[in-house]
Amino acid sequence: MKKQCVIYVLFLTALSSLAAQATSNLGMKPILEHYAASNFIAGAVSKGDLDLIVKAGVRAPSASNRQPWHFTVIQSYDLVKQIMPSAVEGNVLIVVSVPGTGWEIFDGGLATESMYLAAQALGYGSRIYTGGRDALNNRFKAALGLPSGYSALGLVRIGRVAAGIDAISAASSRKSVDAVVSYK
Ligand SMILES: Cc1cc2nc3c(=O)[nH]c(=O)nc-3n(C[C@H](O)[C@H](O)[C@H](O)COP(=O)(O)O)c2cc1C
Repeated sequence: MKKQCVIYVLFLTALSSLAAQATSNLGMKPILEHYAASNFIAGAVSKGDLDLIVKAGVRAPSASNRQPWHFTVIQSYDLVKQIMPSAVEGNVLIVVSVPGTGWEIFDGGLATESMYLAAQALGYGSRIYTGGRDALNNRFKAALGLPSGYSALGLVRIGRVAAGIDAISAASSRKSVDAVVSYK
């Protein structure tokens, strides 16, 4: 009976360790396999998924937990097309703005990446853009209605991509670990 108990406990331990491994691997997937989508296809981003994506932004870490950001979620296709003429129907743009030009930029970048990764974890394509930042802060300032004193850092574009894109071949190559990491 005692032997059976030991075997049972060992079995449960092995099972829970396997489960933990699988979960942690799943967690690593969007971090290691993301890519900046370029071929978006028409199709909606569901409100439920959008809520999760902004939640990921709200949940991002920040220095002293100051959370110095505002997210402007643009679902209006008309405004999306004005800001990004190459956008296709269903694309959503999330403009990230911060109230300063110092450490706020670092924090805003973290929130931006969290939403970029969350979108891909949910099966969408996403891409970060800072290229049109001046237009966001000038031409589109009124349309965006950013909080007073906030400036846009850039935006995350989210939308549908064709199923079956191989993330590894879609992504650009990266420097090798050896080239950028040192251990002391
Ligand atoms: C801070 C930041 C700004 C970016 N700005 C632009 C941009 O203005 N236009 C653009 O097409 N892609 C932009 N990208 C996407 C990058 O070009 C892309 O993430 C990088 O080339 C790696 O691509 P991959 O993930 O597909 O390998 C930006 C990415 C980051 C992180």
